[in-house]
Amino acid sequence: EILKGINDLDKVILRNFRGSSVEVYLYGAQVLSWKNEHGEELLFVSSEANFEPPKPIRGGIPLCFPQFSNLGSLAAHGFARNRFWSIDASSHPFLANSSRTHVDLLLKPTEEDMKIWPHSFEFRLRVTLRPAGDLMLTSHIRNTNTDGKPFNFTFAYHTYFAVSDISQVRVDGLETLDYLDNQQNRTRFTEKEDTITIESEVDRVYLTTPTKIAILDHEKKRTFVIRKYGLPDAVVWNPWEKKSKTIADLGDDDYKRMVCVEAAAIENPITLKPGEEWRGRVEFCAVPKLLQWAA
Ligand code: BG6
Repeated sequence: EILKGINDLDKVILRNFRGSSVEVYLYGAQVLSWKNEHGEELLFVSSEANFEPPKPIRGGIPLCFPQFSNLGSLAAHGFARNRFWSIDASSHPFLANSSRTHVDLLLKPTEEDMKIWPHSFEFRLRVTLRPAGDLMLTSHIRNTNTDGKPFNFTFAYHTYFAVSDISQVRVDGLETLDYLDNQQNRTRFTEKEDTITIESEVDRVYLTTPTKIAILDHEKKRTFVIRKYGLPDAVVWNPWEKKSKTIADLGDDDYKRMVCVEAAAIENPITLKPGEEWRGRVEFCAVPKLLQWAA
């Protein structure tokens, strides 16, 4: 189905036969809802989110491309998250009311975009809701430059997971890894904790992580399992109390109900020559119990 979402923005809804659903806005190709078969929301959206282009929407899964954060000359997190994407007609025609459980979205740069990032590309995003209710996002990014020039980019699936209470949350799979601390000029540290708990502002890029990462929500007795491919790094972000107050589109207490764990390619930018394509995928599943974690 293509429907009108908040502020009349177009969205696509995917549903499977067990009752899980996913909502994707064409603005930003941003997934803003993922519900399990009981109708429970698994992604966080800010209580103060703007649905007013060209502002990005705070919540769900913004795509950071072609630049993560402020690592280059573009605005923070690049521009894919605040462009209108189209449904990719070259994949399959989109049938209203069909039971399809994926949608393909496409972004190509406009002339205006090429003034700020002088490269031609095609970015195809496939959002898939699997029969078991798992959510999968696959990005295909192709260099379509005709001037023979390669380009570099950094990338993240900036996923805001919904949690019941941040003090009851732990992130497993990142222990012993090196990370860059965004709060300390990207200084490199080594993680000493056996598991990551969040008790103050955290903004870190964990480097070359295992494929699987888990978020354990002890209060909800839920485990999110993240699997990532082609995306070596993982960002963990929670702005905590003080920083939240400086973020206009985040409610003051919202930080208690969210954690961002972002599958990313940051430390080593991806380089594509003309005609080359990169693929980066994430799969999320929400398990209704606390998994004993073994990476
Ligand atoms: C995270 C970054 O990925 O995104 C943080 O590591 C940043 O440094 C956060 O503050 C939110 O970014 P934005 O641009 O959506 O406010």
